[in-house]
Amino acid sequence: MSEQAAKSLPSGPSPFISRRRLILGGMAAVAAAWAGTAVQSLLFPSTSTAETKPVTFPLAELPVGGTRPITYGATPALVVRTPESIRCFSLVCTHLGCLVQWQEGAKEFYCPCHDGRFDQFGEVLAGPPPLPLEQFTVRVDGDMVVVGEEA
Ligand code: FES
Repeated sequence: MSEQAAKSLPSGPSPFISRRRLILGGMAAVAAAWAGTAVQSLLFPSTSTAETKPVTFPLAELPVGGTRPITYGATPALVVRTPESIRCFSLVCTHLGCLVQWQEGAKEFYCPCHDGRFDQFGEVLAGPPPLPLEQFTVRVDGDMVVVGEEA
């Protein structure tokens, strides 16, 4: 290569390498976005009530003061009967998605992940949860309890 030819070559990084880095960076961004969506769908599965079939069970299996665990769609839930009402709560904590546990003695839901507490009506009592527990509709049809159907 002549001295004249060597002087005409660009001295910085070649444009080819820059394009390669751009393409690889774009692929990494797409992969990161896809991975984020996949993780989100694992942590917060869709619980569209339009696609979820109602859950029914005999009222006799839920005495006043009692509870009954169910799975509504893909969501673990607990039906709670008080002297005044029958309600069904998602057991998925509204903070970061851990499963809450019913504390029979205290009549409240407890989240062991960050000491979140909810009362028997799903309202936040303590800890970081930002929202009450999700509720599903409940109605009594004759001697059956129906969860997840419009009244
Ligand atoms: S996930 Fe329930 S309190 Fe944090």
